[in-house]
Amino acid sequence: MHKKKKANNRTKILVVDDSLPTLEVIQRNLKAAGYEVFTASDVEQAIAFLEQNTVDLVITDIKMPKISGLDLLKYVKENVKDTGIMIITGYPSIKGAVDAVKNGAEDYLVKPFTDEELLPVVAKVLEKLANRRAVDAKLLPNNHNIIGNSPNMQHVYRLIEKAAATSVNVLVSGESGTGKELVARAIHYSSENLSGPFVTVNCTAIPDNLLESELFGHVKGAFTGAQASRAGFFQIADGGTLFLDEIGDASPSMQGKLLRAIQNKEIFMVGSSRVQKVNTRIITATNTDLNRLVQKNFFREDLYFRMNVIEISLPPLHERGEDIMLLLQFFKDKISRDMNRPVPQFSDKVLQIFKNYRWQGNVRELENLVQRLVVLADDDFIDVVDLPEQMRFNINWRGGLNRPLVEVEAEHILNVLNSVKGNKTQAAQILGIDRKTLLSKIRRANRLTEIE
Ligand SMILES: Nc1ncnc2c1ncn2[C@@H]1O[C@H](COP(=O)(O)OP(=O)(O)OP(=O)(O)O)[C@@H](O)[C@H]1O
Ligand SMILES: [Mg+2]
Repeated sequence: MHKKKKANNRTKILVVDDSLPTLEVIQRNLKAAGYEVFTASDVEQAIAFLEQNTVDLVITDIKMPKISGLDLLKYVKENVKDTGIMIITGYPSIKGAVDAVKNGAEDYLVKPFTDEELLPVVAKVLEKLANRRAVDAKLLPNNHNIIGNSPNMQHVYRLIEKAAATSVNVLVSGESGTGKELVARAIHYSSENLSGPFVTVNCTAIPDNLLESELFGHVKGAFTGAQASRAGFFQIADGGTLFLDEIGDASPSMQGKLLRAIQNKEIFMVGSSRVQKVNTRIITATNTDLNRLVQKNFFREDLYFRMNVIEISLPPLHERGEDIMLLLQFFKDKISRDMNRPVPQFSDKVLQIFKNYRWQGNVRELENLVQRLVVLADDDFIDVVDLPEQMRFNINWRGGLNRPLVEVEAEHILNVLNSVKGNKTQAAQILGIDRKTLLSKIRRANRLTEIE
């Protein structure tokens, strides 16, 4: 005897048709192919069944007495998450079937059909559903609300978990827009032992003369104008996380004060000689190479060591492989939803460009671009012409020594154009060519992408 297959592992299909012979034939064929099959002879019955049971796929006729299959489609799309729907229909209502596909049905099949025709379509639809589920699963924000599955990011998640399990200080480094603040919050919100507030301090923003009172607070009368006591960042973040953003910009005097507070875990409010214990986790972020600043003596080494007990270094977006596509999908859905606009489709060529682009501004650049494309798109299709000029070059900048001169030239032109924010006159000056030559080179670079 074969081991009995667990029924709930099998793919479940509900077939809806008012013609009993059709129902029977389809049921027999699908069962023979190993599916678990349920039947309903009208939409009401089908809906009653779906209210109690989950299936992977609904196969429905369109024309039925009382309620049509299109209403069932609507019901499924609105109420049953994750279930596909396939239409079967007689020739006369083929237009209805096409409309159904536009309204979210996965596919359709015209009656009469043989089982050789039925089974491949069902298999194809199920495969499409499985793929969609796989993508949805990846898009489900993990417990950190961070999108991405690349090995590089998996490594980051492991470090976040490690950091969350302790209360040691963490240094988050990475290019601008890579998600440093997102990571800092993820650590804070998954730390159980530090449930206090998450307080952000931008180290560039505090002038030296206010530093001490901003960080440690002051008591009433500490200086002229101090009419009441006021807590500083360290007190506000007590029992929680103090997020020091752009720590590389901290002035020498700030570095000294931070070091003392971190080292001793105690502070003095300005104007008070009473020592206060603080229990604050410090997470710092930097987009410069702090180690280099230490070597050049711009940053205190002792403070550096205090801060990076755990260092999380965020990879630039172009080192995250398929994550670019996941992030694109995530932002496209989110932004369209927020702005109440249709979710645009991106052409294959645009996707190709996205994969090869350098993304100097990393995730933030991608997010901003998608936002702009969703707002500006005339229809819901985005093609290469809709992209900002510098992206249309589609240069594979990763290339090594096997690249043709035109490509390298195009890349250099692009970089120069970027550096002058697209000002062609200025770019031509830098490149030592006249504006007309520049324009023709840009055209040529564009053509280079088109014939690809
Ligand atoms: N992996 C990700 N998944 C989803 N959204 C992300 C991801 N990484 C970054 N973002 C989003 O991108 C934007 C920039 O992220 P964030 O502000 O954390 O970057 P940053 O590294 O702090 O940048 P900067 O150095 O410029 O301050 C934010 O809107 C953030 O939500
Ligand atoms: Mg930031």
